[in-house]
Amino acid sequence: MSSHYVLPTKVPTIVFPGSGDAARHLALMIDSLIRQNSSAGRATVLGLPTGSTPVGLYRELIRLHREAGLDFSRVVTFNLDEYYPMRPDDPHSYRFWMQETFFNHINVPPRNTHVPDGTIRAEDAEEYCQGYEEKIGRAGGIDLQVLGIGRTGHIGFNEPGSARHSRTRLVTLDPVTRRDAAGSFFGEENVPHQALTMGVGTILEARKVVLLAFGEHKAPIVRRAIEGPIGDAVPASYLQQHPDATFLLDRAAATGRAGGVSPLI
Ligand code: PGA
Repeated sequence: MSSHYVLPTKVPTIVFPGSGDAARHLALMIDSLIRQNSSAGRATVLGLPTGSTPVGLYRELIRLHREAGLDFSRVVTFNLDEYYPMRPDDPHSYRFWMQETFFNHINVPPRNTHVPDGTIRAEDAEEYCQGYEEKIGRAGGIDLQVLGIGRTGHIGFNEPGSARHSRTRLVTLDPVTRRDAAGSFFGEENVPHQALTMGVGTILEARKVVLLAFGEHKAPIVRRAIEGPIGDAVPASYLQQHPDATFLLDRAAATGRAGGVSPLI
């Protein structure tokens, strides 16, 4: 294991030299969770994110599947969010992205994977979202929720203003989030204005939460999330109230510059 250090912050935070080291650390945590549950005859329920941040994690889990026999046949997954409206076969959809980046390369049964459905009618959203929550409940709740963090402080698509007890719902995206997504949509005007997302309350019910953040552009919001006041201005700050949440950072996200002295210490 590469050298890493733990910060005395309000949320336990581990800083790794690089994002690959953090991804490997989390992949090994997930590996042992799945193996423990499987040998006890239990399923493992994972809450999963999309975005640039978790790509290395998925690559590492695929490697563990191929080279170390990590078996996903008893794994159940729930993705955090999906753009709305959005078809699952649209290359911009998170369903498409998950298939390409992860699901198609492991042996998770397709029926075990859940991504919010961006094709539902808006008037059915409330019922649909309640159904998504019920599916999580029937699966036994989320064992491990993996998160990224947006520059707005969002987790999932819970933008500033999202309440501590919010549930899965249809939301409006923050302009900063739409701007950050513009590159993958060939222009901000093509980015959907809405999304379906698990709520803050849904996320906080996961038994364990691990948030990944890499790069100096994430440093200011990471600092506010783990040391700032708890509240809806930075939805990730609610993780300070979770009994088992951990932030895994690369040095740049901890310091605001590669290799500098951490402003978090
Ligand atoms: P990113 O997005 O991984 O592409 O930076 C993170 C997020 O918005 O949650």
